[in-house]
Amino acid sequence: MTRPLPMLSGLPLLGSALDFRRDPLSLFRRGHAAHGEVFGIKLAFQPAVVLVGPEKMRFFFEQTDDALSMSEVYQFLVPILGAKVLFTAPHAEYDEQKRIMLPAFHGKKLRSYVGEMSEEVEAWLDTLGERGEFELVGVAEQLTMAMVTRCVFGARFRERLGPGFVDHFVDLSGGLEFILPTNLPLPRFIRRDRALRTLQQLLGQVVAERRANPDQYDDFLQVLLGATYLEHARIPDSMVVTMLIGLMFGGRENTAGHLEWCLVELLKHPDWLARVRAEVDGALGPADAPSFDSLRELRVLDACLKETDRLRPMTATLVRLAKRDVEIDGYTIPKGWLAVAGIALTHRLPEIFTEPERWDPGRFLGGRSEDVPYSIVNFGGAHHRCWAMSFVAHEMKVAMSLLVRRYDIALVDADPPSETNDIGVTRPKAPCRIRYQRRA
Ligand code: HEM
Repeated sequence: MTRPLPMLSGLPLLGSALDFRRDPLSLFRRGHAAHGEVFGIKLAFQPAVVLVGPEKMRFFFEQTDDALSMSEVYQFLVPILGAKVLFTAPHAEYDEQKRIMLPAFHGKKLRSYVGEMSEEVEAWLDTLGERGEFELVGVAEQLTMAMVTRCVFGARFRERLGPGFVDHFVDLSGGLEFILPTNLPLPRFIRRDRALRTLQQLLGQVVAERRANPDQYDDFLQVLLGATYLEHARIPDSMVVTMLIGLMFGGRENTAGHLEWCLVELLKHPDWLARVRAEVDGALGPADAPSFDSLRELRVLDACLKETDRLRPMTATLVRLAKRDVEIDGYTIPKGWLAVAGIALTHRLPEIFTEPERWDPGRFLGGRSEDVPYSIVNFGGAHHRCWAMSFVAHEMKVAMSLLVRRYDIALVDADPPSETNDIGVTRPKAPCRIRYQRRA
């Protein structure tokens, strides 16, 4: 017998649905203040249990999909990925995809990407000249897409895919829909389907060419092409294409947004910017290309990235569907209810983080006890932790270290506001301009 779940009151019929969409952090704060780490809300007709705090995050992420399931809540991706890839895949296929792809993000492979990422960033920096301004929101999008396509496809194919490649992914995102039937003849659905066909065709050609010359390459894509898949001795090309689209689509906005926030926060804190630059100058010197090992020396930059994860998580919440009754702290999350991870509030709990509203990387540089497991879950956790977490950290370090090494930089727009899109990703809102001048 479990105790009755405390419910947070909301509007008639809608419950807390509007607050959940517009301002989840304030909603979580109200529920937490009234009821503690576990409380119920109504999202119109869908009831949900909100969980807050590191122990509850551990619980949320460590549940298997038989208890708290991911795939049902990612059904909005089906028009883009189909029902058999990554977030939407049934168990057996998901496990197989993870087995194949995880090694492409780690170990020797990750080490080899640092040079490729650096060349992409240097190529962009070479276009900037002595001084000027750039709009961070557009630039971060292009730069992070350039780095990932370079690592996945190598220099030759990355060049062929060109700067317009990212636009197809923007059209895919514009076609995401949670309420309307997704096959209506609306312009944004038409653009979504056209972008998907174009990507399938472009990447299908790349895969076919690579199949014809398998010995010439040793990159991310080659890991996929060399794999077996379920009963297939060779993974089907169509599956490779869909997985590539899924990965690049899944990572695009998050990675661009993370780079944007990291730079914005660093530029808002010139004392930390100076420390990062001193560290970069010491580790890389005036002209050395970053290496996997020299990037490991950038401890202050690491702390700045982690603090940005904390204060600027890409999403305020993640959600699962209870496939059976699940007990927590003497309460029941009933079958059919949603479980909601209160990420934004967990990242700001004063019992863990001193002055939680302040961006302060010092909390992660030793001597303070603020580095608590599961208190920062910007990349998820346990079984479904982001596969690209280390890859993204390397992208951030390469881009930021090369930028501050070459230029003095400052924000033109002092404190850019944030903007949350339909799938809950929060990024700075343009204009978010950066002024730069080549260092002496
Ligand atoms: C700053 C950038 C990123 C952030 C903040 C981020 C965050 C996340 C989070 C929170 C999850 C867990 C989702 C859940 O539990 O419901 C996740 C999963 C995942 N992410 Fe990322 N991500 C980032 C970039 C990327 C990139 C660049 C890629 C691929 C190139 C990627 C691939 C994946 C995959 C495949 C999963 C599924 C893991 C699983 O279900 O086992 N992510 N990511």
